[in-house]
Amino acid sequence: MATLVRPAEMERITTPALAQAFIDEQLAELQQQIGDKKVLLALSGGVDSSVVAAMLIKAVGKQLTCVHVNHGLLRKGEPEQVIEVFRNQMDANLIYVDATDRFLDKLAGVSDPEAKRKIIGSEFIEVFAEEARKLDGVTFLAQGTIWPDILESEKGIKAHHNAGGLPDDLSFELVEPVRILFKDEVRVVGKALGLPDNMVYRQPFPGPGLGVRCVGAITRDRLEAVRESDAILREEFAKNGLEGKVWQYFTIVPDFKSTGIKNEQRSFEWPVVIRAVNTKDAMTATIEDIPWPLLHHITNRITREVKGVNRVLYDLTPKPTGTIEWE
Ligand code: XMP
Repeated sequence: MATLVRPAEMERITTPALAQAFIDEQLAELQQQIGDKKVLLALSGGVDSSVVAAMLIKAVGKQLTCVHVNHGLLRKGEPEQVIEVFRNQMDANLIYVDATDRFLDKLAGVSDPEAKRKIIGSEFIEVFAEEARKLDGVTFLAQGTIWPDILESEKGIKAHHNAGGLPDDLSFELVEPVRILFKDEVRVVGKALGLPDNMVYRQPFPGPGLGVRCVGAITRDRLEAVRESDAILREEFAKNGLEGKVWQYFTIVPDFKSTGIKNEQRSFEWPVVIRAVNTKDAMTATIEDIPWPLLHHITNRITREVKGVNRVLYDLTPKPTGTIEWE
């Protein structure tokens, strides 16, 4: 399966019926490939790994072990949702690792964006490898590789982000059940597998998570301000019909403070920056025109509800000159 190529004549999966046909075919193939052996999967809760998990749970049940590493940089409610959906509802073998302290301790005082990314990436592999070593007799590693990943790594645009990274003592055969699918097809398949809409239609979220939105050296209190303001923004976008309309939206908390007034007293606190962009391929992006009254309402909520924040700003910068993320 690892060498599987998308057939040129393959019909785009756009309907529940086509998704079901793909699922039936894949389940049979997975059962044949895996037999009675064991499979391991790093389950982030993103669309691709969630769909792979749901397929493997259907195909081989408890022969699959999912490892969900919480690096402390996930959005509000995400680790809880992974546990609820996969452990409680789908009865998966799920190992939940709360590695928040480990990541935040390593990141303490590190302000360079690239250094932060490297720490998060290598620490993630280390935590996952430690969990993998605790398990006996695992033959396969499942991955949420999708077709654009293959095309991009072939073109040399980006290294195949999967496959690599694990230490040499951990060598597995790969299982990649959504390898020939485009992202929109993965979503249709996820829906047909019964995954919740907020998992299937989730906006893109970077691997380093909220870490790249807590600009500069991450502190726990400022990270909390990122997480809480992001939750308010998502809630208001959902309530006001912007959820499926805007490609990506989130908040950033820079590492500086300004003077303000709260409860008739001087405050000296952080600003929250709102970013909401539209794009096709993330190479360029335009800014969403958020209705002015909604921006006022969100500003009001964030300044009242988020600890340590006294201002809200809206980032009007397209890509280029800005990138979508701030780091
Ligand atoms: P930029 O900031 O480069 O982001 O304009 C383009 C898109 O990529 C996402 N992004 C990442 N995704 N790992 C990821 O999986 C990363 O390190 C990463 N950095 C940026 C970003 O959220 C946007 O959708």
